[in-house]
Amino acid sequence: MLSSRRYDVVLLGATGFTGTLTARHIHQHTPGSLRWAIAGRSSAKLQNLAASLTANQSEKQRPDICIVELNDKDLQDLASQTRVIINCIGPYHIYSSGVVRACAGNGTHYVDASGETPWIQDMITSFDSTAKLTGAILVPETGFESTPSDVAAFVAASALHRATKQKSNRITSVLHKVKGGGMSGGSLASGLTLVDDYPYRRVWQMLTDPWMMTPTPHAKPFPNRRSLISRLLGPFRHSDLGILTTSVTSPPNMAIVHRSSSLNPGVFDQVMFSAAEFIRVPTYLAGVLMHVTIMFGMCLIFLRPFRWLAGKLIPKPGEGPKEDAEDGVEWRALAEVGNDGPRALSIFRCKAGPYHMTAMFMAEVAMTLLQASETILKTHGAGFITPACLGDTYLEHLRAVGVEISSKVLFGQ
Ligand SMILES: NC(=O)c1ccc[n+]([C@@H]2O[C@H](COP(=O)([O-])OP(=O)(O)OC[C@H]3O[C@@H](n4cnc5c(N)ncnc54)[C@H](OP(=O)(O)O)[C@@H]3O)[C@@H](O)[C@H]2O)c1
Repeated sequence: MLSSRRYDVVLLGATGFTGTLTARHIHQHTPGSLRWAIAGRSSAKLQNLAASLTANQSEKQRPDICIVELNDKDLQDLASQTRVIINCIGPYHIYSSGVVRACAGNGTHYVDASGETPWIQDMITSFDSTAKLTGAILVPETGFESTPSDVAAFVAASALHRATKQKSNRITSVLHKVKGGGMSGGSLASGLTLVDDYPYRRVWQMLTDPWMMTPTPHAKPFPNRRSLISRLLGPFRHSDLGILTTSVTSPPNMAIVHRSSSLNPGVFDQVMFSAAEFIRVPTYLAGVLMHVTIMFGMCLIFLRPFRWLAGKLIPKPGEGPKEDAEDGVEWRALAEVGNDGPRALSIFRCKAGPYHMTAMFMAEVAMTLLQASETILKTHGAGFITPACLGDTYLEHLRAVGVEISSKVLFGQ
């Protein structure tokens, strides 16, 4: 019985930039009865973090502290004592395979904020069948990548299905508004080392194949209706969503949305389906500039000297952008049946910057797993799922911490 384990939640890698934000979110937003611990390799850093959590909110107990090295014995011990592990140790492909193995083997639910698609693909290949035997639910990529786009797509497709009984063939996902920028040292290191450590063939697959994490057989792609010129230059006008162009977060997000489409056959068509992600821009010129910059950056990242130089200039591990209350993100997703059928628009709005949002999402996924694992197991079984598979309980948790999620069905042109 998982409920007899010592900890409900252990936050591993709590001392990093994202881990610290996640610890604060858990401390501030979860019930005092939660049995939780912060874990990592540095006792001094963990003590400091625990003290800082209670500095302003002393009525709540400090979390326990677990000193954990990334070896099999420590990870097995930790996983066997814990119901849900939130893992913030990245780059994930370098450090975290053992954490996934320990969780899958011990029936421990697992949450992370990885966006390293080839690594997630490897983890699914290696540990999905073990997790299915032990009952572990593993939810990777629950951060800014890819919760908003995945949840918005599912909410739009579900609204369309409720209103019309039809399943969506197409999702157009849009980063409609984003304020707050910059990336943490950990995120940049993850991107650069991924290209160092994986064969270019797999990195190229990550950039070009949104089906790479989807179980086969899967739906055929729904035909693309963008003109050749807009595909070459970037921008195009969408009648419901405005002027759109290439989005840098499209590859990891769309790999998750395509996987979700296969795992949720009740609302997504299994014969023909495609999802694509864009970012909204004010003008065509801005769209061309963004597209060219992203394409240029993608070419540069394949050059080893560029990665070496970038590695010298990026923020250090543990550092990250300063986000304030003005930061915020709005995602929209349009679900469509065929080319001229009914469609539904969802809006996912969060008044937090990407890193605070990532912390919030991971913590709320963990709380959802504690509360609704039986329902999730009945619907999807154990193994690797996506944020969209967490169902209504997750949406309720997100709304409770201030995320606005809405949808409406559109008919006609
Ligand atoms: N997908 C998304 O939207 C999203 C958003 C945010 C973050 N992320 C990902 O989350 C990961 C963490 O990012 P971050 O900015 O928080 O990184 P960070 O500040 O560098 O933190 C990394 C954490 O991992 C721990 N760690 C590193 N090497 C370790 C080792 N050998 N043994 C044990 N612990 C080790 C560090 O412990 P010490 O403190 O002891 O060094 C620290 O707690 C990255 O992979 C990033 O890409 C993704």
